[in-house]
Amino acid sequence: MSNEKQVDSGRRGLLVATCAAGGVAGLATAGAFVSTFQPSERAKAAGAPVEVDISDLAPGEMKTVEWRGKPVWILKRSPAMVAELPKLDPLLADPKSQRNPDDLTPPYARNEHRSIKPDVLVAVGICSHLGCSPTARFQAGPQPSLPDDWAGGFLCPCHGSTFDLAGRVFKNKPAPDNLQVPRHMYVGDTKLVIGKDEKGEA
Ligand code: FES
Repeated sequence: MSNEKQVDSGRRGLLVATCAAGGVAGLATAGAFVSTFQPSERAKAAGAPVEVDISDLAPGEMKTVEWRGKPVWILKRSPAMVAELPKLDPLLADPKSQRNPDDLTPPYARNEHRSIKPDVLVAVGICSHLGCSPTARFQAGPQPSLPDDWAGGFLCPCHGSTFDLAGRVFKNKPAPDNLQVPRHMYVGDTKLVIGKDEKGEA
């Protein structure tokens, strides 16, 4: 897969080519995660909504699927991860997802956990700065490139932007906005459709 397919604009395409750690391919091979990076040919060609079975995700696990050439993360948060989210509000640039809500956060995700179900995050894994793909850093606590009080989240290796486990960007980082929550809906308890919701396709 070309790097250009990981992002949705020419400008970002050029930049993401320098983000060796990012993108769909990097995430799909992350050992700790369930990898189901196998969209159908039809879905890839048409940019059609993608159906995802998440019944195999245990708390704390994430899988990545491709939708319109972009990596879409589906993270099943543990109860402890969900409980941590409100505590982070003072450290975040847009904790209530007020910025660009039409593009970034559909109405059903404009809540503390930025998701339909509190424990399941669905987000496009592309940094709002220059289009690199952040890496999962779920382990809490001190570690390289992260603050000592790190509660788990995502780190963009390109310029150091950090996001919490709801895809909300921390203050004073290069990335101006939270990660995009794509339109999505549940068609079963553990079955999601990405790129479509009750109001139609994205
Ligand atoms: S592209 Fe993510 S911080 Fe620059």
